[in-house]
Amino acid sequence: MDSKEIDKVRKSLLEAHQKLLASNLNIEELFATDPERVANHTIDIPQVHFDFSKAQLNAESRDLLFELCKACGVEEAIKSMFSGEEINTTENRPALHTALRDLDSQESRPEVIETLDRIENFVRSIREGRRTGSDNAKIKTVINIGIGGSDLGPALVVDALNHFHEKDIEVRFVSNLDPNHLKRTLKSLDPKTTLFIIASKSFKTLETLTNATAAKTWLLEEGIKNASIGKHFAAITSNPTLASDFGVEIDCVFPIWDWVGGRFSLWSAIGLPIAIAIGFKNFQELLAGARSADMHFYDAPINKNIPVIMAILTYWYREYFQAGSTAVIPYSHDLALFPSYLQQLHMESLGKSVTRNGEEVKGKTGDVIWGSSGTNGQHSYFQLFHQGTEFIPIEFIAVVNPSSGIDTDQHTKLLSNCIGQSFALMRGNKQNKKNATYTSGNRPSNTLLLAQLDPFSLGNLLALYEHKTFTLSVLWDINAFDQWGVELGKETAKDIYTELGKGSRNETERYDESTQGLLKIIKKWSLASKKEI
Ligand code: F6P
Repeated sequence: MDSKEIDKVRKSLLEAHQKLLASNLNIEELFATDPERVANHTIDIPQVHFDFSKAQLNAESRDLLFELCKACGVEEAIKSMFSGEEINTTENRPALHTALRDLDSQESRPEVIETLDRIENFVRSIREGRRTGSDNAKIKTVINIGIGGSDLGPALVVDALNHFHEKDIEVRFVSNLDPNHLKRTLKSLDPKTTLFIIASKSFKTLETLTNATAAKTWLLEEGIKNASIGKHFAAITSNPTLASDFGVEIDCVFPIWDWVGGRFSLWSAIGLPIAIAIGFKNFQELLAGARSADMHFYDAPINKNIPVIMAILTYWYREYFQAGSTAVIPYSHDLALFPSYLQQLHMESLGKSVTRNGEEVKGKTGDVIWGSSGTNGQHSYFQLFHQGTEFIPIEFIAVVNPSSGIDTDQHTKLLSNCIGQSFALMRGNKQNKKNATYTSGNRPSNTLLLAQLDPFSLGNLLALYEHKTFTLSVLWDINAFDQWGVELGKETAKDIYTELGKGSRNETERYDESTQGLLKIIKKWSLASKKEI
């Protein structure tokens, strides 16, 4: 990392940006100035086609952004991550989620292979009825209790791959501290046929432990004997002692290692609910898809590297167009959970204001990620994309071949809307500027096409976004793998809980006037409602 070189490229980028704006060239006109634009702005890897030709980017700024990657040491950083260097510097650990999908090389880790074997056996023993609930009842429902990375990734994959679900076992997810989440999920379930997976790397997370305890209470209240409780729990954690203290039988405790970050963990044993839902072979396919993206990220030159290019576009828009957010719109109902998964991956990783050297960052870092599945958004917030005053780059994702059982014509309509939107946003219409019907066009987007939505292509997609996130952290010189802000929030909630809980010592004066006021009202109203009862 050469800070003088970085400053020099940044200055050139600023000038290139000013020139681009002054030229008044809109995106569509860039195609005319560069006959090779599509060829130079599309990349193909197995099952994925990436098109960034509708970016607000000319050849000069694009090449400068590649220079910036070089100056920031993106190529070296990629090698450091894969080789297991301690790139998570505030927690002194590597970030080796890529090792979870590296299963056939000399570098493959024995503990990863061994854990996969255990997952395979566990899934088979449940499916074959060798591992049962109380009274030898076959497991019919698996409930994953976890939050953040111990929930969002597996929940997305299980939902997205619903066409691959194996019969007879339903997998559900509970994350929220609100007791209604668990209560609603348990509705009309038979406790004898229900297995809970407690997914918590730390085994200390308030939400997860509270829900796990509530699940245990439910089992006991529904007549499961204390001696049989262990039949209804499995756990994934790096703290097996705490899991065992909770009552999980030790052969049902699966490991996760400190070199796997929570939001990068669905490929580890945290993926157990995925393997149960879609079968172990399909889980392996998911890993293979991610491995394919890993190899692309590792091997491809930066100017042909999809995650790097996705990252430089976000960087370009954030730094030079003051974009506060990126909209991610999957035109696939099966990918409806993708934006919320991506919110954690991107915003927990990139919401930082201190550099890797501990200095305050000078510019902007992570933007806001939001979105929902198309076409629904077209009838709500797309108006703002077309005519609003916000600059919001869009990442479209579409699946070319429909999942089986979906009328092809209906799917063609869906695809037409995706492609039609990116085109309309770029072209606009050519009415008089003062006319209310005028849409300016020139609104940038990129499009990622998946051949179909299957375990391989989904693994590929998610790993591409993991690597985009990492590349951005290198460009911004921040640590993508810690989350100290979240930790502060957790601690504060604990103190407030003590304040509100039984035997509270009435120490509200410790807090500011607003917080004191809120606490007082909650105490007063909850006392009043108890009196009414
Ligand atoms: O949300 C903060 C966080 O620390 C995430 O990084 C993590 O995925 C989540 O909490 C859950 O943590 P655990 O798996 O330890 O329960």
